[in-house]
Amino acid sequence: KNIVVLISGQGRNLQALIEAQEAGRLHGRIAAVASNKADAGGLARAREAGILTEVVPHIDYAERSVFDAALAATIERHHPDIVVMAGFMRVVGDEFTRQFRGRMLNIHPSLLPKYPGLKTHQRALEAGDAEHGATVHFVTEELDGGAPVIQGRLSVEAQDTAQTLGERVMRDIELKIYPQAVAWMARGELKLENEQVWFRGQR
Ligand code: GRF
Repeated sequence: KNIVVLISGQGRNLQALIEAQEAGRLHGRIAAVASNKADAGGLARAREAGILTEVVPHIDYAERSVFDAALAATIERHHPDIVVMAGFMRVVGDEFTRQFRGRMLNIHPSLLPKYPGLKTHQRALEAGDAEHGATVHFVTEELDGGAPVIQGRLSVEAQDTAQTLGERVMRDIELKIYPQAVAWMARGELKLENEQVWFRGQR
């Protein structure tokens, strides 16, 4: 299965996917990595792994919808079965999400439906939550609202700051659940049917 990964930053999630692919655990091939930021650190990780990179700078487009169309066309050129948003920090429009419906996953650093949007670790701490984590979900028109596929959770420690909590969610949860979710997709064990997740034969 062909995979295209979308990034905007360091690409730690991308790195976990690359390592899973190299270990034969991804059951798919990352055909390209695309970013809206020419200076995204993850682009260097892709190049080091011999993966094609594409940059579609959102600053070059006056209209969000025109950027979305340019990015969609760039992605489709790689004929993806699966599109993975891995630290992709742009809100995309309905036309874009419809085009990739059922093929596109995102990872969000909270136990959705808690804390959609930004500053999730800060908000979990302020709420005094005992647990926190991350969620991989299908991308739909609702921001961070698509059907969840897999979640990982951990205990919040008394001395945690947004920084220490975020780092632990990344290291102990995100980098583990994303390769698992993508492998399920690549093996055809996971589908989005209407609004619901179909997993290994069951609804
Ligand atoms: C991750 O925490 C991801 O959940 C959030 O942004 C961060 C991206 O990190 N959307 P990286 O680019 O994968 O290192």
